[in-house]
Amino acid sequence: MEKTKNPLLILGFLALLFSTAERTFAIRLPDRNAGAGSHSSPEPPLRVAVFALGSFWRSEAAFGCLPGVVRTLVGYAGGSKTNPEYRNLGDHAECVQIEYDPRVIQFKQLLDVFWSSHDSRQVFGQGPDVGNQYRSIIFTNGTQEARLAAASKEREQTKSRSSIVTTQIQQLGAFYPAESDHQKFELKRHPFLLQLIGNMPDEELTKSSLAAKLNAYAAELCPPNIQRKIDSKIDEILKNGWPVLREI
Ligand SMILES: *[C@@H]1O[C@H](CO)[C@@H](O)[C@H](O)[C@H]1NC(C)=O
Repeated sequence: MEKTKNPLLILGFLALLFSTAERTFAIRLPDRNAGAGSHSSPEPPLRVAVFALGSFWRSEAAFGCLPGVVRTLVGYAGGSKTNPEYRNLGDHAECVQIEYDPRVIQFKQLLDVFWSSHDSRQVFGQGPDVGNQYRSIIFTNGTQEARLAAASKEREQTKSRSSIVTTQIQQLGAFYPAESDHQKFELKRHPFLLQLIGNMPDEELTKSSLAAKLNAYAAELCPPNIQRKIDSKIDEILKNGWPVLREI
């Protein structure tokens, strides 16, 4: 044959291939953060909540799949040390920061999930994890959140008087994002799921709503109906197959 093919044709073919591959690979869940331009309403006024409830790997998964939760991020808060690190976090606690759409989920409901996702009566640790960094804290921003937090803690204490609810209520201050290794940690334990969403670079993974949901799914902490919905999406993708390199 004569020269190489028209590079534009090749590019066009590649674009087609990728768009097909994307449809095949991607799990499409409603992305509430789909971006400006696609919708006439302005960006939703997102709110931020921060909780400490033991290992932040699990904490992130406990909230990532809730309808209305747009993004999750793990980090350090509640102490005074500047620039804490995982191996040197000083007096901080392991925390999850939740960005949420208040039109879909409210602080009050996040509090319910907070209480049901850990043992607030365990002293100096959570589950098998021992230490001050695993303490239980509700961070509040403003008097209304402080009131809701205090009322919910009182309700929790009323359930049993035989032990003390250790949860602290603190004003939200500096939040230090953790190292990227710790973001979406449960998802990273499942290379298959990572591949399914196109092996996003860490930076993107940290911010992605889809990754937050799948991180919860990987830990089996999605609400049952959503867990089942994702199961069937994945089944569907597996049944349809996808382009696989079989030999070189
Ligand atoms: C507290 O809430 C206000 C209003 O929503 C917000 O502007 C501010 O950034 C929040 N503070 C922190 C520390 O997140």
